[in-house]
Amino acid sequence: MRLLLLVTIALCTIRAWAAEEDLKIREDTPYVQSGMVVVDTMLEMAGVRPDDFVIDLGSGDGRIVIQAAQRFGARGVGIEYDPQLIQLATENAMRARVGDRVSFLEQNIFSSDFSAASVITMYLLPEYNLALRPKLLAMRPGTRIVSHDFAMGDWKPDARKTVPVPDKPVGINKESTIYFWIVPARVGGRWKSRMPSTGGDAQFVLRQKFQELSGSAVIGGRSVPVERARISGSVLSFRVRDGDRTLRFNGQVSAARINGQLGIGDRFYSWHALKAD
Ligand SMILES: C[S@@+](CC[C@H](N)C(=O)[O-])C[C@H]1O[C@@H](n2cnc3c(N)ncnc32)[C@H](O)[C@@H]1O
Repeated sequence: MRLLLLVTIALCTIRAWAAEEDLKIREDTPYVQSGMVVVDTMLEMAGVRPDDFVIDLGSGDGRIVIQAAQRFGARGVGIEYDPQLIQLATENAMRARVGDRVSFLEQNIFSSDFSAASVITMYLLPEYNLALRPKLLAMRPGTRIVSHDFAMGDWKPDARKTVPVPDKPVGINKESTIYFWIVPARVGGRWKSRMPSTGGDAQFVLRQKFQELSGSAVIGGRSVPVERARISGSVLSFRVRDGDRTLRFNGQVSAARINGQLGIGDRFYSWHALKAD
């Protein structure tokens, strides 16, 4: 019985991986420029700063990374498979006097390594976003992603904004929607900890769907729900009710460890947890 259960779990896991691999790109993303109001909104929503490294997947004439360098002082790379657009973007960058801060790589976005980016920008198609999603989710927690007009399936955006674009060259509605995500750290699973206030054992089980969390805790032998659990990049916070007290946990997640604080009333204790599975 146990063997059957293990085989079933293994098959389901393999099928889930295969489903992601099997995502087929049925049409090419055509070259359509994002209007400058959209470019500015994308970079503003991503909170681009001078220390950012922006990578535009499918960079067209280079406008997004050029604007990231010119207006926000960031560095950037555009990845594009059309050599003529690479040449145009490179000339545009020279004209904008940001040739020392941006460059353009003639590559296919599906085989390129964009893991060094702190900000990813995209104006592709929904199926491209879904095919890229596993690689985007594997990026450093805290990486910001903005996509023009297309969402990311059941990975809900952390923010979205619609702006009027009267001269938009495609679509009936002369407006664009920009979607924003922050890559969440992986915190799902079992965590072991000690209560700094009492020295007693504590255990947390967190269930994660992208940036959405729920779970339960066992503190002092009692099982209680985890409430208001949030993960933003690598910053975790949640609450647990303990009788008439509320225990407020927060921390920074790094691989198999959480370092943070526990607040009880107006007192704060340093707190940490270790991954238990
Ligand atoms: C809709 S345009 C967006 C251009 C630019 N990012 C902007 O927002 O103005 C999409 C761009 O992606 C490029 N592209 C499509 N598929 C690609 C792929 N697999 N690898 C690299 N570039 C690709 C197209 O050539 C096109 O320039």
